Amino acid sequence: GHDIVRKPGELRAWSRAWRTAGERVALVPTMGALHEGHLSLLRRARTEADRAIVSIFVNPTQFAPGEDLAAYPRTFAADLAAIASVGEALVYAPEASDMYPAGFATAVSLAGPANVGLEDRFRPTHFAGVATVVAKLFIAAEAEIALFGEKDYQQLKVVQRMAADLDIATEVIGCPTVREADGLAMSSRNRFLSLEDRRRAAVLPSVMATAAERIRAGAEHGAATAEGAAELQRAGFDVEYIEARNADTLLPLGRISNERIRLLVAARMGTTRLIDNMPVESA
Ligand code: PAJ
Repeated sequence: GHDIVRKPGELRAWSRAWRTAGERVALVPTMGALHEGHLSLLRRARTEADRAIVSIFVNPTQFAPGEDLAAYPRTFAADLAAIASVGEALVYAPEASDMYPAGFATAVSLAGPANVGLEDRFRPTHFAGVATVVAKLFIAAEAEIALFGEKDYQQLKVVQRMAADLDIATEVIGCPTVREADGLAMSSRNRFLSLEDRRRAAVLPSVMATAAERIRAGAEHGAATAEGAAELQRAGFDVEYIEARNADTLLPLGRISNERIRLLVAARMGTTRLIDNMPVESA
């Protein structure tokens, strides 16, 4: 089976031994409930590095009261089997009491891409929790690279900004979103959709693709996203946002747009909150 470590100091000892032997180390941070999206990050880690670390930790500080921390799926045995199907990895599965011992009093404070009115508007404490736990993971793992999914595009930008600003030597690499056959982005939360809602949820990526195509074809982005929001509502979604933003800064687009554009969406189907994003490639 896999080697599993539970304490930050143990993780650092493994990583240092590898690097002393001249091996390149990659980190894949996850909250478990692993699916093909996570496994694609692990495959990439194994092609880019000699050693892979997969962290599995459902980080309580990135969930607000009333969010789905208690309901978040915990499937540790299946996760180990899924990792084994891809190849060798060190599993880092700390306890919350080791990550946040009594007296814990530190957090990473963010602005920039964490403060643009997308996820941060609906989950105002989320990215501070993410950035703090990711900083802890980076500091303990001392990896050369870390793999993150574009599925959580704002998270990817927040983590890249934090790593640059804090002089963290780990290079943060974004990887493409893995989708189900009907286009829905894989997510550990998809399992909470009823059969009927799961079927309807496939309009989310298709509406985004249509809006992206319209913007590419010259439509005004506000009109294209407003039309997209209306289509999502007709399909049964409660739309939180659907917006075209600067792909690097995530700020609203300027008037003269030769900027790279990213379309980002968050919408609820019943009680399940889904997020997705796509590039708007220029013609
Ligand atoms: P989690 O939701 O488990 O996601 C772990 C990593 O898998 C993230 O980088 C995420 O973007 C990526 N991922 C999820 N679904 C994907 C998909 N369909 N295709 C490609 N990549 C996908 O994101 C988190 O955990 C946490 O916030 C974490 C960074 C671990 C900090 O707690």
